[in-house]
Amino acid sequence: MGAVDQTTTGGYLERYDEALARAPMSAFGLVREWLRTDWRDLFAELRERRPIFVTPVFTIVTRYADVTEVLSHEEVFSVRAFGPRLDAALGGPFMLGRDATPMNWRDKGLMRVMLDPRDVAGVRELAGSIADELLDAARPHGRIEAVHGLFRTVALGVSAKYFGFPGPDAQTLSRWTRAIVTDGFANFLGDPEIQAASVRAGSEMVAYLRDRLAERRVALRAGLELPDDVFTRLAGTTLPGGIGLDDERILINMAGLPLGFVESGPGAMVEAVEQLLLRPQVLARAVEAAGDPDPARFDPYVWEALRFNPFFKLLPRLCERDHVLAAGTPRRTVIPAGTFVLAAPASAMFDADVVAEPDEFRLDRPAHHQLFFGYGHHACLGVHPARAIICEAVRRLLLRPCVRLLPPPEGRIERAGGIFPDRFVLGLGPEDQEG
Ligand code: HEM
Repeated sequence: MGAVDQTTTGGYLERYDEALARAPMSAFGLVREWLRTDWRDLFAELRERRPIFVTPVFTIVTRYADVTEVLSHEEVFSVRAFGPRLDAALGGPFMLGRDATPMNWRDKGLMRVMLDPRDVAGVRELAGSIADELLDAARPHGRIEAVHGLFRTVALGVSAKYFGFPGPDAQTLSRWTRAIVTDGFANFLGDPEIQAASVRAGSEMVAYLRDRLAERRVALRAGLELPDDVFTRLAGTTLPGGIGLDDERILINMAGLPLGFVESGPGAMVEAVEQLLLRPQVLARAVEAAGDPDPARFDPYVWEALRFNPFFKLLPRLCERDHVLAAGTPRRTVIPAGTFVLAAPASAMFDADVVAEPDEFRLDRPAHHQLFFGYGHHACLGVHPARAIICEAVRRLLLRPCVRLLPPPEGRIERAGGIFPDRFVLGLGPEDQEG
């Protein structure tokens, strides 16, 4: 995805229908490829002509009202499509693997208390200072590899300092999260090797956390002062009324923090930066706003840029019982039990029925039109810190002079498995430093 404006060529449905009649598997291959390369045009055509796109293998839901309907009915559209893989890796139930259960409700409530929104300003500063250190180190080279050399390192640093989860070292934590998230979100064909690597990484991660929890308990009992991070809060919290935070819950929820962030955070930062750098006029205004101490001026640039290439384009669900979707509208469709449903927030955020002038870059979008952090029952637990960290890391980058895209292949975003960004080299500083 390198262009700002994708020309609307259309004709996807004709090509799909034709391929389906000839060789169904090639039809799915086409859709998979279009989702990677032409998603905006494909979704535009689907919203217009087949907004609930039923195929024999999956159903893609493209309109805002229908995407939010799917994500609002967790007892009908469950996370069984991927949740059990996360449970398997962590050796026990995790909130993103459970729908409408007391466990999800309780764990999410408790974890919301631990991720206190009042932490946000401090976390923002932490992310900014890690980013600045990395940018200072990169400056003499005239370029920076923005995934591992900047954004992923910011995410791992936040995990270390704010969550209290550094891992044995940043590299190991990074390997663990990649292995588990790859199985959870990119292994729909159930490759057994990917699955085994995820279970191995999960058990190493939980064993590591178990040792650290024991150490923190000893330190707390001895009255030693521990850093005020999420892990200390979890280890030291006792709640009235028998509301238990047993060790298994603490370990699994701690593991869930970097799992929720180390892939998606840098993913969002990379996409937002690319979209800003592709729009020189917008970029100039964004850089000016970046100098304003009030984040409210800069942050909308990041969110609007991300809308043009959201990291999470599809949220997978399994339909547990027959459901009439979009009842009372011309789109009314019965979704039979067993259907693999892909709700497409990336499409919903371009639905002209809800989003004014969706193809324009506008800074006045209301927050509820933005679906980057999901919607409904499983809406992101980390939304408050994540918003601040993403914007601050991007802001610190753009405050550096002459940040620019480099010509491909170097300047192209490389993605592991076509999804997780792994390399994105940017020019930094005056152009004559390059080389
Ligand atoms: C501090 C950082 C983060 C943490 C701790 C975190 C954690 C989580 C957790 C635990 C859930 C599951 C909630 C539930 O099942 O009820 C979740 C959901 C979600 N998160 Fe985050 N997350 C973080 C950052 C992000 C970022 C940066 C993005 C993308 C820009 C993101 C996007 C999402 C989405 C889309 C969902 C919903 C998934 C679904 O409905 O299938 N998160 N997050």
